[in-house]
Amino acid sequence: MKIGRVTLSDRASGGIYEDKSGPEIERVLRELFAEEIEFERVLLPDEEKQIETALKHLCTVGCALVVTTGGTGPAARDVTPEATRAVLEKELPGFGETMRAISFAKVPTAILSRATAGVRGKTLIVNLPGNPKAIAECLPPLLPAIAEAIDHIAGFRPKLKL
Ligand code: MTE
Repeated sequence: MKIGRVTLSDRASGGIYEDKSGPEIERVLRELFAEEIEFERVLLPDEEKQIETALKHLCTVGCALVVTTGGTGPAARDVTPEATRAVLEKELPGFGETMRAISFAKVPTAILSRATAGVRGKTLIVNLPGNPKAIAECLPPLLPAIAEAIDHIAGFRPKLKL
């Protein structure tokens, strides 16, 4: 199964700090999926058009799932949900709603994330917040719905470890 993992961060892409969230997505997904995974790795600044182009490309090359991290907050440069919505054919608001609900129980600021998700062609796209800690908190509870969505849109059901 091909999975795109996309880090959106001016600072990580500018070399000001190391991207910890992208590798964390790989670690968590390899722990959860029983499938062989080939990762497509992308690191970009918070530029809406560049993000849209990258997301479309990852769908074109056959990713069943694309997970983004970063750029979901309220700051002027946070444009990941806008870029995501621009390429989606169907929005699946339940992913963002669930992450905010789960994370709010631990960090009250979690509701500042505007993360969304949805379908483009045969690809499920899911936004996660940028904080590396948020990856391990948000991703595991979404896995049953991710597997179900992939079954509906790509026609195969990825096996989970559990
Ligand atoms: N979700 C979890 N689980 N843990 C966090 O630390 N940080 C919040 C929120 N969601 C956070 C979280 C904060 S402070 C912001 S501003 C938003 O995610 C957006 O983060 P991003 O712009 O890096 O995506």
